[in-house]
Amino acid sequence: MAKKIRDSWGSRIGIIMAVAGSAVGLGNFLRFPVQAAKNGGGAFMIPYFVALLLVGIPLMWIEWSIGRYGGGFGHSTAPGVFHSLREKNRFIKYFGVIGIFGPLVIMIYYTYIESWTLAYSFFALVQKYSGITDQASMQAFLRGFQGLERNEYFSSIAPAYIFFLITFIVNMVVLKHGIRGGIERFCKFAMPTLFVFAIILAVRVLTLGIPDAARPGWSITNGLGYLWNPDFSQLKNPSVWLAATGQIFFTLSVGMGVILTYASYLKRGDDVALSGLTAVSMNETAEVVLGGSIVIPAAFVFFGPMAISSIAGSGAFNLGFVTMPLIFGQMPFSEGFGFLWFGLLFLAGVTSSVSMAQPAIAFLEDEFNISREKAVVLFGIVTFTLCNGAIFFLGKGVVDELDFWGGTFCLVLFATVEVILFGWVFGINRAWEEVHHGADMKIPFIYKYIIKYVTPVFLLVVLVTWFFQKWLPIIRMDDVPSENKPYILATRVGLWLIFLALVVMVKVAWRRRKGGGEGA
Ligand code: PFF
Repeated sequence: MAKKIRDSWGSRIGIIMAVAGSAVGLGNFLRFPVQAAKNGGGAFMIPYFVALLLVGIPLMWIEWSIGRYGGGFGHSTAPGVFHSLREKNRFIKYFGVIGIFGPLVIMIYYTYIESWTLAYSFFALVQKYSGITDQASMQAFLRGFQGLERNEYFSSIAPAYIFFLITFIVNMVVLKHGIRGGIERFCKFAMPTLFVFAIILAVRVLTLGIPDAARPGWSITNGLGYLWNPDFSQLKNPSVWLAATGQIFFTLSVGMGVILTYASYLKRGDDVALSGLTAVSMNETAEVVLGGSIVIPAAFVFFGPMAISSIAGSGAFNLGFVTMPLIFGQMPFSEGFGFLWFGLLFLAGVTSSVSMAQPAIAFLEDEFNISREKAVVLFGIVTFTLCNGAIFFLGKGVVDELDFWGGTFCLVLFATVEVILFGWVFGINRAWEEVHHGADMKIPFIYKYIIKYVTPVFLLVVLVTWFFQKWLPIIRMDDVPSENKPYILATRVGLWLIFLALVVMVKVAWRRRKGGGEGA
């Protein structure tokens, strides 16, 4: 088999922008405020930072290191990368399947939500929702757009479908141009742009005036206090810990296999320690500084402390797609701010969704020796078909189901496998050396112990607690309304089939390798 030349990053800033692009996404500006508000603001932030230090940062270093290591053996995805960490073990590569499956599952619904942001930035410019001034009508606008009801605003799902098509094509075009010419180039433009948009919005929100006499206390300072005044009373509540850890994973894109894939295109001598930390810092700036200064303080000033958690609790998208347009509607230049808000989300979304697609595409390229163009077309056809499930069965809870398996469960599981593999199977001493190979910084020594003991124990505790608290109700679908059960069941069967198909593909790929004399 003739080997192709592997794609690579054009510059160090390029890969940092791409990894930060993967990390900074809808999770920073939509999911974070919702999670923080649902879990009591200040009560959420302590577990959040603990999880960042003990799980998020170590996993970022681990994924950069093992990705670069596996890339040296010509592998860009978790099955091959895991295999190269421990060639003697024939089963390890199958754990790696989660690193293709998880991002693929997230991509199925994420691109659809991303397309709403494109639609809403267009609606902001053409003032399609500008006459709406109350929560119920803005909610109806969103439901009409999503095809959940027909109303005065939308008579079919067609506009949503068209925006989805455009979004999907944008993603495929970026992917078709490869690592350096597509992803890197796009992220180098999108990341600075979205930071500028976010800074403008944050400054606008933080300079909102003094509250009127009828609503004393509804001020920006109190809005910030809602998030930043620590509340120690909730530290004993495991669900706040679960939510905070889940957010750290989701926002950093770790425990997924995507950072690992990006890092596989590094060269052996490239730094991973400082670059990984820089990407984390960019993400956290976008999340807690910018993300935390837009939605929550603005909603606090306009709707008051009581309303925030109930709005967040009433639907995952209400803060972003209902509350924010209403808030901008009360400001001068509302179209401009609406456009900036949704435009920011769109750019952040695309830089993340392309990273979710990359593992599956790279898997086809590396392990089946298919050209990038062909791999993108094949991947595009399969995912496009699957996305239709999320689009047409949104109201049946399919998106929540995909988010649970792809965006919560697989992540923790994959991260646990990764950290045990790196710290124990590969061995912490080799691991420590590997992280520091070519490194531009020295990682504090304590992280050697954190990676070996604390991170795995933390993850196992999360998994076990979660298992005992939630496993049975989830399997039995206790919380699913009975009319939705067939759809959820069908989604689960579909997910199993995709997973099994990937397992079979790994088996076939390795058999072909063996046949080709490259060793299994
Ligand atoms: N980190 C992204 C966000 O915060 O929106 C989401 C994400 C990207 C999840 C890449 C998973 C992934 F593979």
